[in-house]
Amino acid sequence: MYRDPVESLEPLHHRQAAIRTLRVGMIGIGTVGSGTFRVLARNRADIAARAGRSIELVMVAARNLERAAGIVGDSVALTADAMHVATHPDVDVVVEVAGGTGPARDWVLTAIAHGKHVVTANKALLAVHGAEIFAAAREKGVIVAYEGAVAVSIPIIKALREGLAANRIEWVAGIINGTTNFILSKMRDEGLDFAAALAQAQALGYAEADPSFDIEGIDAAHKLTLLAANAFGMPLRFADAQVEGITALQGVDVACAEQLGYRIKLLGVARRQAAGVELRVQPVLVPAAHLMAQVNGSMNAVMVKSDAAGLTMYYGAGAGSEQTASAVIADLVDVARLDGVHAAQHVPHLGVHAHATNALAVLPRAAVHTSHYLRVPVHALDQIQTIAASLAERKVPVRQVALAAERPGVGPQVLVLTGPVEQGALDLAVHALQARAEVAGPVTTLRVESLEG
Ligand code: HSE
Repeated sequence: MYRDPVESLEPLHHRQAAIRTLRVGMIGIGTVGSGTFRVLARNRADIAARAGRSIELVMVAARNLERAAGIVGDSVALTADAMHVATHPDVDVVVEVAGGTGPARDWVLTAIAHGKHVVTANKALLAVHGAEIFAAAREKGVIVAYEGAVAVSIPIIKALREGLAANRIEWVAGIINGTTNFILSKMRDEGLDFAAALAQAQALGYAEADPSFDIEGIDAAHKLTLLAANAFGMPLRFADAQVEGITALQGVDVACAEQLGYRIKLLGVARRQAAGVELRVQPVLVPAAHLMAQVNGSMNAVMVKSDAAGLTMYYGAGAGSEQTASAVIADLVDVARLDGVHAAQHVPHLGVHAHATNALAVLPRAAVHTSHYLRVPVHALDQIQTIAASLAERKVPVRQVALAAERPGVGPQVLVLTGPVEQGALDLAVHALQARAEVAGPVTTLRVESLEG
């Protein structure tokens, strides 16, 4: 008799279990947790219809029990002890939305050790401890799902590992931090300086508890680490990413980029090259007419170049209570469908099953190959050709040279756009340029990203 190979791997009690309610224990009931509670309650019937079974929040761990009771009422058991949720026999899946990387790692590993699936929106936790967490989950045959960790409202993890599963992905580039995009938009639109724009972002609640994670590019690098692993089937390489934030970015460069027809965006880029992968977060110039340059305020967008689908782009809110809940609940629906199914049939944690993990090297900064913008303070306006000639001598292709529009309090500035050149070669050329008598101050360089197919 023919037997379905998947069915034959599935113990009978699992198949019977698959029709009962999926019982959720949640750690944390802050912005994301309360949004998850609300959306689960509001769309209960639709979510159950999509999942094939009902999904019910049965337990919540919270630091402030009174506040938690005010949110969930008396329908849900409350505890002050997160480990109680991670170990409780009535919990099938633990939703970790408390954040942080210390205790959260212990809760998640404990939940996995107790055979529970985990849904988390914690990008820092996974970027730093993901290898250990996914290995433990594989061992136990449980799922760790994390759509809410990257550009929350955009189902980009699913797009990469499911929607684009047929493709060889060439690069992923995105605005994946809303706080910095808000700041850059304010600096451009209202001519605000960095500090004033940051204060507004914090007042609106966009920034992380520690805003240095946003403005230094660390939050974006956490997310990029997860995107790259899913795009290329490579291990999580957060420690190898080149990370540059926007704290050193000057208003004058925002204006000069504009003059040349570009906008400055904090981009996370993961690009496959012959010798390895570029993994980098930095402020870059993007052509002003490009769709990516139109992503403003706190919005996020991710563009993917793949061989069959071509260029695709995804846009949406990168933070927010119900926006993150949307991703968390989508993960719960996946867990509801796959709970009890043999682990080999789960969607793999990083887009490929562990045995297929591709040990791609992360390229060093010097090997990154892009075009560049240079702003060179000079003593006199007639030095423009000297600057261009100095770069050309050092084998830097010069595509455009211009004088910056005059600004009060700013001396004459030569602006240069180069053709593609390795960072190492550019650094040497800029070093030589900096030593010239014509140069009146520090040369500023930024990468230019074409984002073309
Ligand atoms: N602080 C993050 C941002 C929140 O600004 O994008 C969402 O990860």
